[in-house]
Amino acid sequence: MAETNFKNMTVMVVGGGGREHAIIKKIKQSPLVGKIYALPGNGGMANDAECVAIGAKDIDKICEFAVANNIDFAIVAPDDPLVLGAVDKLEEKGIPCFGPRANAAIIEGSKVFSKDLMKKYGIPTAEYEVFNSAEAALEYVKNSDTFPIVIKADGLALGKGVIIAETKEDAIDAVNSIMCDKVFGKSGDNIVIEEFLTGPEVSVLSFTDGKTMVPMVSSMDHKRIGDNDTGLNTGGMGTVAPNPCYTEDVAKVCMEKIFLPTMNAMNSEGRTFCGCLYFGLMITPKGPKVIEYNCRFGDPETQVVLPLLESDLMEIMIAVSEKRLSDVEVKFADRAACCVIKASNGYPQSYKSGFEIKEDASVIGDAEIFYAGAKKDGEKTLSAGGRVLGVTATAPTLAEAVKKAYAASNGVTFENEYKRNDIGKRALGILESL
Ligand code: AMP
Ligand code: GLY
Repeated sequence: MAETNFKNMTVMVVGGGGREHAIIKKIKQSPLVGKIYALPGNGGMANDAECVAIGAKDIDKICEFAVANNIDFAIVAPDDPLVLGAVDKLEEKGIPCFGPRANAAIIEGSKVFSKDLMKKYGIPTAEYEVFNSAEAALEYVKNSDTFPIVIKADGLALGKGVIIAETKEDAIDAVNSIMCDKVFGKSGDNIVIEEFLTGPEVSVLSFTDGKTMVPMVSSMDHKRIGDNDTGLNTGGMGTVAPNPCYTEDVAKVCMEKIFLPTMNAMNSEGRTFCGCLYFGLMITPKGPKVIEYNCRFGDPETQVVLPLLESDLMEIMIAVSEKRLSDVEVKFADRAACCVIKASNGYPQSYKSGFEIKEDASVIGDAEIFYAGAKKDGEKTLSAGGRVLGVTATAPTLAEAVKKAYAASNGVTFENEYKRNDIGKRALGILESL
């Protein structure tokens, strides 16, 4: 492909959550970008992009829209359309894209694929077995004597396909529900049963074009609904960056043993990965290991990583799509960021929404609001989902960023809201102990 030399580009972002809002706000700062469409976006981001009511999985309509509206560049953010081949189809129509093709997105789309890839290329990960029948899986579980063990549905399952079974009974229940009751549908036709690892978790998003691998600033997610990591798993209740567990030494080991080997392995398989490759890592007593790969930016990691990016995101994304990532600068501020998610009380189970969201600019200050579950009702913005929005602040230190994010979060309010009150607490504790 020839080098793109656009100005005033018309850009389409596929997806509709806080991650997409963070991407949109960042590319809006680029002198290369003119108009931005979000498909479907959400009502809370209507000031930053024109939202178009086309679902992120409706690939045919997405392609039709792109052609009809002379889209210069497409950014496909969520896992589903990537795994379904949105980038392949858009590229067939001549539209340059940021995001992996389907044959590379499989690194997230199939846990069996990713585990087998790591085994074949010696990339550190938990020991595992693959099962394609419930009988064999149950037989294996019944003969196991080390618990907990981890049971994973092969395919995409809205981030819920991982069960940590504390006992043999839990493991039997998990196998039955995934493989017999099909709680995750066809995603549970095959399962991975793996060793339970321990250690702090780190998320590292990276830009890669298959030739160059540029890790972004590291981050830490907070997945449980309750303070001190209690209660049900969620899509993520807050994030901080950088992650203090990701020291320079750990970063070096990861680059050498995990990041570059993964890029090279995908090339060797004829599945060059071009886009944002997300490494979910655990820093175990035996060194860093891969817990999961995602074929995309993480949510809510993106909401702390991109606000720290000083370089032009649009320029980087174009360079990745043209396989000349090494030509561009990717620079992060030497600062810290904290994102506090505000959800509807009751999430991740049932909750009431439809309440007006009010912003007080004098309290929000220079913090950024990234909308996820929000819709427009005339001039008003209403809560319309489990995770409603994220409030991100950056500051010279993590302690200041956390304080600033919580203070700013009082400037965006709605009825029936819920947030965790300890985002960043663990990271600050680790920093103090260093
Ligand atoms: P995943 O959807 O693969 O990220 O898994 C969700 C969460 O389950 C991870 O963030 C970890 O906290 C946990 N997890 C997954 N695999 C393992 C494992 N092998 N050992 C311990 N915890 C795990
Ligand atoms: N925060 C984890 C994810 O995006 O899957």
